[in-house]
Amino acid sequence: MTQPVRVAVLFSGRGSNMQTLAQHLAKPSVAGEFVLAITNRPAAKGIEFCQAQNVPCAVIDHKAFDTRAGFEAAMQNALDEEEVELICAAGFMRLLTPDFVTRWHDRIINIHPSLLPAYKGLDTHARVLADGAKEHGCSVHYMRAEMDDGPVIVQKRVPVKADDTPQTLAARVLKQEYIAYPEAIDIVIKNLKNPKLR
Ligand code: GAR
Repeated sequence: MTQPVRVAVLFSGRGSNMQTLAQHLAKPSVAGEFVLAITNRPAAKGIEFCQAQNVPCAVIDHKAFDTRAGFEAAMQNALDEEEVELICAAGFMRLLTPDFVTRWHDRIINIHPSLLPAYKGLDTHARVLADGAKEHGCSVHYMRAEMDDGPVIVQKRVPVKADDTPQTLAARVLKQEYIAYPEAIDIVIKNLKNPKLR
């Protein structure tokens, strides 16, 4: 049997997608293993989950570094130590440099709360409502050097309701995120022909 793909998850806050991925990767039928969580925020809520579940979590505070390159070098070290083969960004609210993203080409994926390429960037739910859009959703995509760019792996759609607030809409989308990310990770793991090469 081939070894499970070694997965790291990056998060910045609540970490609920990170938890969903940890639960998914714990299933014996899934060909990946959750080996490391990384957060750039020492106060991130998701850290509590990692502690409770004994998931190794590296807290790498971006504010402790003068440059993005320095911050990313520290992340790279943590990833190398755990021999990570695939990175999942899940609510990781830090832009990564083209150098980092290119090094991890097709081995770094992200979830974004919109139907990409629509509504890149922040505050997607409020912008969707302000535009009067009828449909919204989430996308899991391969990361590329441009923000919120790259081939879409899985997309899930939700209707926008007349009485929606950004919060109610976000909650409807989030439920779909929990379905989309596990689906996407299964596809990506299958497509990783030789996880040892990068
Ligand atoms: C999720 O809705 C995710 O799609 C979004 O942040 C939230 C994180 O929640 N990501 C982005 O906006 C990235 N541009 P979580 O920490 O509970 O997973």
